[in-house]
Amino acid sequence: MKIFSGSSNKPLADKIAKALKIRLSKLEIHIFPDGEKRVRVIDKVVGEDCIVVQSTSANADINYIELFFIVDALKRSGASLVIAVIPYLGYQRQDHVFREGEAVSLEVVIKTLEAAGADKVITFDLHSIKIPEFFKIPLIHLSALSLFAEKVKKIDGDDAFLVSPDMGGIRRIKVLSEMLNNMSYVTLEKDRDLKSGKIEISKVYGRVGKVAFVVDDMISTGSTIVKAAELLKKKGAKHVFVFATHPVFSGNSPKILQESEVEKVFVTDTIDVPKEKQFKKLEVLSVAEVIAELLKNSKS
Ligand code: R5P
Repeated sequence: MKIFSGSSNKPLADKIAKALKIRLSKLEIHIFPDGEKRVRVIDKVVGEDCIVVQSTSANADINYIELFFIVDALKRSGASLVIAVIPYLGYQRQDHVFREGEAVSLEVVIKTLEAAGADKVITFDLHSIKIPEFFKIPLIHLSALSLFAEKVKKIDGDDAFLVSPDMGGIRRIKVLSEMLNNMSYVTLEKDRDLKSGKIEISKVYGRVGKVAFVVDDMISTGSTIVKAAELLKKKGAKHVFVFATHPVFSGNSPKILQESEVEKVFVTDTIDVPKEKQFKKLEVLSVAEVIAELLKNSKS
């Protein structure tokens, strides 16, 4: 087995390689003055199972293209199997036509990945349970919920409860609740204006306790979390902790989160958080062991 890293999340690729007790294999990624990339596999891969780690987070277009080129280069160089580890699958929120005339961007990138030669994909906490249906190749859908459950158990205070910030997150919350001895949960009602992107969180369904654990798949602008925390505090919660798998962290979301009512924000390293986006309330949990365990135990 050989493991390669794209440019988007080398720290995670390093950790996975370490857990697998193998070194990262060599790739040459050259960027021409006009931004085009030339990818070349340096290590010999004939007959090998190859893993490529690439989060297709911002800049999603650049990271997807690089991934397609790496997969193609590996296949042309004789790899027998190429597994794309895409911890964060970019464009997953564009999984259907929301308004007439829109592209289904996620379907386009998946088709291109398959055409480039990927044989299998491993990813984490997808936005919707319908996404796996887009894949013709096997997709392994992992979750960070067990990592979150361990943390919640350590913080657990009196009158703790889970929170889904929108109706779409209920399935996730139910799974986590089961892991936590059927911890009670509430759901918030969130509306998003598709044109402006602005959100409103107005209602809570369920009993608000004292220690809230808000769980979401990703944090982008941070508005969902900030508004959820404000409402929960207004309704009587004393402490609000946040768990989100993917730290998309667009714009000035780190600052907004640091200054919010939230006590602590737990995310994972499915997306690399550069130094300038880290903040005091942030703690990053690693999914490297989860991926390495799966790769150790999976036979092509
Ligand atoms: C939306 O349905 C997702 O589950 C997240 O709640 C959302 O993408 C977070 O976005 P933002 O941080 O911009 O509110």
